[in-house]
Amino acid sequence: MNYTNLIHNLQSSNFKRSNISAETTPPHITPARPPKDKIWGSLSGHILQLKKDRLNFLYDSMLSYGEVIEMWVGPKKTYVITCPDMLEEILKQKAKNFPKNTPGYKKVSDVIGDGVFTEVGEKWKQIRKIVNPFFNPKNFDFYTQVVNHKAQDVIAQIEELPDKEQVPISRLINTFTLKVLGESMFGQDFGPHQDRIEKEFASLVDLTEKKLTQLDIPLNPLQWWENKKFNSSLNAIDELIQEIIDSSKSNQKKNFVSAFLKSELYADIAKSSKKEANQFLIAQIKTMVFAGHETTANVLSWITNFLCVEQEHQTKIRDDLTKLRQTYPENTFELATKSFPSQDILWRSMYEFASESMRMRPPAWSFGRIAIEDDNIKGLDIKSGETVTISPYLCHHDPKRWDSPLKFDPSRFRPEAEKRLHPLSYFPFGAGPRICIGKQLAWMEIMGLMYHLFSKYQLKFARGQSPLEMSPQISLRPASDLYISVKKIPD
Ligand code: HEM
Repeated sequence: MNYTNLIHNLQSSNFKRSNISAETTPPHITPARPPKDKIWGSLSGHILQLKKDRLNFLYDSMLSYGEVIEMWVGPKKTYVITCPDMLEEILKQKAKNFPKNTPGYKKVSDVIGDGVFTEVGEKWKQIRKIVNPFFNPKNFDFYTQVVNHKAQDVIAQIEELPDKEQVPISRLINTFTLKVLGESMFGQDFGPHQDRIEKEFASLVDLTEKKLTQLDIPLNPLQWWENKKFNSSLNAIDELIQEIIDSSKSNQKKNFVSAFLKSELYADIAKSSKKEANQFLIAQIKTMVFAGHETTANVLSWITNFLCVEQEHQTKIRDDLTKLRQTYPENTFELATKSFPSQDILWRSMYEFASESMRMRPPAWSFGRIAIEDDNIKGLDIKSGETVTISPYLCHHDPKRWDSPLKFDPSRFRPEAEKRLHPLSYFPFGAGPRICIGKQLAWMEIMGLMYHLFSKYQLKFARGQSPLEMSPQISLRPASDLYISVKKIPD
């Protein structure tokens, strides 16, 4: 039994979920219109409120105005929709009429280029075909080994620290996810580039965030200066990616770079322009590091944070891990993932805890779609060119779907409770044809690091460390680094 079966089985209830939001939708929906900024609203719409505190403004609007809201970003209208049935139609059944090329995604592509994350239509299909084999379950045994080794490296790094009371866990996690990505996708753990990638990609995420909240004003000297800074940071990142490409070319193992170099798509672009073909290649690499690194690192930091708060859950997870080790005394993580589903019960508490952490803090907390043609979604008229804002964070905290949504409670993901969830009331990895391609790898990283960390140590916040605050940017980052104190559990 391979890893896909593991996650598939843990989530099997998701596939059988009944649609509980059976309330009848009115034949015609008029969206709620929250008031705009009193002074500048007629020009800027809701942009000042969004800029001030995007997440809480959206959240309060959902609580006050319901599941279909009209908002204005400058002169552009967007519908903020949290109704699961409507989202299901937009992301799944009518995905073709609602592609990703929103103004927001265009700004993301200004930073990472046009890769599998941002492309649309035929070109997206072609790129996804090249990328898909890397996420084929037949690779998962190898990825399990990679995750296992890199998680053991984290433990070794902690063991070497002189002060176990101040472990910089979020930084160790960041390095861990980058190493796993490097080894599994690029056949190398980025070796000498590791530190620079971490630094440059953190700034890349900042840049993307800046781009997203920037209102383009022509001939604005401040904006001209910002753009100049932006371009020079982007050049630094592209040079770094070029180095990765060059070192991957000499790597004999099948890797992401060689897959693109061998593709017909690359050959076609190279026929007309070598420079364009290289830009295309850079965009593909940037996309994969961008999409696959920070999201997983954020989830792992949030999980560790919640475990430090919820000490009794730590004990429960540890008891399950002890049983897992008794069942597989050697190579526990690798064998236990393979022998699933017969031992699924042993993983359940970890799965429920991680799922609840992703409900509370979904890294991809908000994204969008744009209508190509006029459409009607369960009574709401959406005109061609209008956008829809979809926020897993809002949906995961909607009091209509969740009891006490601000309370951390992993029992929401017990098998029977999970069956009752609407698939579009919980979707940290998105939904429909553009669902996260790295979902299985991300789960493997989560389980792998949790397994090694929590079976070895009792975790607490370090002295002076408070529970993490949210910093909602392009991803839902923790607002600061996380420091923990670890105490070894006797064997
Ligand atoms: C816990 C970690 C992760 C979370 C929460 C997450 C979340 C998401 C979400 C919500 C989307 C869909 C966005 C949309 O529909 O607009 C997405 C897409 C994507 N993710 Fe992830 N992701 C994670 C990890 C990863 C990893 C590890 C990789 C790669 C190694 C990855 C690669 C991608 C790619 C390439 C796409 C675009 C797929 C397409 O449009 O065809 N992600 N992710």
